[in-house]
Amino acid sequence: MIKKVAILANGGDVAGLNPVIRAIKNTAENNGIECYGFIDGYKGLAENHFIRLDGNPISSGLIDKGGCIIGSSLNTIVFKYKIRGEDGREIYKDVSDQCIENVKKDGFDCVFTLGGDSTQKSARDLFVKGMNVIGVPKTIDNDVACTDITFGYNTAVSVATEAIDRLHTTAETHHRIMVLEVMGRYAGWIALESAIAGGADAALIPEIPYDINKVSAKINQRIQNGKAFSVVVVAEGAMPLNGEASTYDTGVGTGIAKNFAGAGNKVAKELQELTGLQARCTTLGYMQRGGSPSAYDRVVSTKYGAKAMELALEGKFGVLTVIQNGRLDSVPLEDVVGNNKKLGAIEGGTEESNVRLVTLDHELVKTARDVGICLGD
Ligand code: F6P
Repeated sequence: MIKKVAILANGGDVAGLNPVIRAIKNTAENNGIECYGFIDGYKGLAENHFIRLDGNPISSGLIDKGGCIIGSSLNTIVFKYKIRGEDGREIYKDVSDQCIENVKKDGFDCVFTLGGDSTQKSARDLFVKGMNVIGVPKTIDNDVACTDITFGYNTAVSVATEAIDRLHTTAETHHRIMVLEVMGRYAGWIALESAIAGGADAALIPEIPYDINKVSAKINQRIQNGKAFSVVVVAEGAMPLNGEASTYDTGVGTGIAKNFAGAGNKVAKELQELTGLQARCTTLGYMQRGGSPSAYDRVVSTKYGAKAMELALEGKFGVLTVIQNGRLDSVPLEDVVGNNKKLGAIEGGTEESNVRLVTLDHELVKTARDVGICLGD
């Protein structure tokens, strides 16, 4: 019998965090269970800082609310936690035992971890150490293994699609190439799906290194057909054939070594030179994460939150809620983050990962090619 649960969010925010919190809290409340939230994610867990959510006015009106009422930790790994040493310098310490102790002392029977790959890796490790955890897959990048969809992704695609629509009209008016840079460090889902939804002419994704000559050939063909304008969507992690992604050093020293920026500008500059059309780049950035969730995300977040609480009631811990072939289900966290893959060493400072990337035989890739979207290959 569980009596008390707590939620934490980790990683970049997405639209849908509050609806997940609401669904967990409502399902808990309806089963006579107290529901709490750790403030600022893993930081709140490490420092034992939490608030009660059920019966608290802060947790009403959450279904359409962007952001996250309990905050979310960034670059925070409890196994490598940043503290100030005695000499005032920053050092990293493993505070996972402290986290386990806090949860025991406060009587939390389960901690729900809302986050992506690196969040769930820490959750898995805390589970192995004895904490009851249940993960819920959050990221706009849609790159969590074992699930078809993460919450927040659909809203990001909708925001990107609206941007493409708006860029289309100005591209046509001024006979320009409009490049839209969207998020996606290693996975091109947002770029690919928004390009299809917005009817873009090209989509460049990290999984398919691009040949800029292929993209300019597509645009030149359009010019010959009387369409002297084009819209090109570029994922921030897109890279040229035999080249590198455009990154810069974050300088934070957390293990997350790189941020991505500049891919769109690079493509715009080269296309301008190769086609003779003026090119402009718009970087969509954090617009994709902020604001109200789409109707789809509200529903998917509610399904995920309610399912997570159901799993807790069944005593099924160490799992992630997933949607596979349209069915709401759960899989062991070990399956999600337990495979040692190359990308894990880069993302989130984790050593293991199983990031879900766009595969060349995915139906979205086929669809994009069928309707004439150039993928740069
Ligand atoms: O992981 C989600 C994501 O939106 C990435 O696509 C992007 O590169 C990253 O977050 C940026 O995060 P931040 O600037 O908050 O570290």
